[in-house]
Amino acid sequence: MTSGGDSPGMNAAIRAVVRTAIFCGLDVYGIYRGYEGLIDNHIEQMYSHSVSNIIQRGGTILKTARSKRFMEYQGRLQAFNNLKEHNIDALVAIGGNGTFTGASVFNKEFDFPIIGLPGTIDNDLFGTDSTIGYDTAINTVVEAADKIRDTATSHERLFFLEVMGRDAGFIALRSGIACGAEFILVPETTTYIDNLARLLRHDWRKNKTSGIVIVAEGDDMGGAYEVAKKVKEKIPEIDTRVTILGHIQRGGSPSAYDRVLASSLGFLAVKGLLDGHRDSMAGIIDKVVTFTPFEKAIKHTKDINKEMLEMSRILAL
Ligand code: F6P
Repeated sequence: MTSGGDSPGMNAAIRAVVRTAIFCGLDVYGIYRGYEGLIDNHIEQMYSHSVSNIIQRGGTILKTARSKRFMEYQGRLQAFNNLKEHNIDALVAIGGNGTFTGASVFNKEFDFPIIGLPGTIDNDLFGTDSTIGYDTAINTVVEAADKIRDTATSHERLFFLEVMGRDAGFIALRSGIACGAEFILVPETTTYIDNLARLLRHDWRKNKTSGIVIVAEGDDMGGAYEVAKKVKEKIPEIDTRVTILGHIQRGGSPSAYDRVLASSLGFLAVKGLLDGHRDSMAGIIDKVVTFTPFEKAIKHTKDINKEMLEMSRILAL
């Protein structure tokens, strides 16, 4: 089952789960539209050929949804009954925070074994260095930022480029470093407008001919439009523009890195279930396979690297 916001590489993970399970002599079912489909009994058996030719495709062949009904006991009970009807006795849930919050409650209520795979572009899960889709999303942002840099340089403009990340600045930080952004604004740190305007003005006086400020959508000062407006009030002489990248970051063919990560984690999820893991997320930390209990994966915050944030500013001077 895939659930929550989709991410590139989910299909590669589905493929790995299906084929590993079949290799291990298990029957495999696909649950469509996340917890919504589980409640509506949208469940179909999958075979090796069901996952042919999908490793390179973005999105998820199983579809996905955010489910309000699964937050209610009645919805979860219906989901449990549907699983029993199909003789399904373990679940692999590919998703992010919301998915694992639901999985944790469901596991406790019905003592039902679940392994989670970290599938989100946000990379905001504790218990894995990288989530499935994060690398691809960063590459999408960098490709867009490079194009923006071209036009920014031609017109001598300052661009505010908004990237995804409601609660976390991982996409902003890594893509910002990779595209040489002048500033990176993330939810994990406070943005001081006076400071930002002072440094940007300084950049311009030093004859910078373009600028890119990467703004994570969850920054405390607001999105890119808000930040741009405030900066423009302080330095009206700079010509500014705003670009919101939006859902383009969630699509596209997964990078080689994400395909390998998703394949490895899908394989490990099945092995983990057979080894008796029942309520944890499979991840890879420092090249070591790790199973982190759902509660920890959701509640422990993965810290953003503040030194890298500082470094990005020095490198943009
Ligand atoms: O959780 C992944 C994510 O892409 C966030 O970065 C973003 O804020 C959110 O999903 C958008 O969700 P939706 O597609 O439901 O609008």
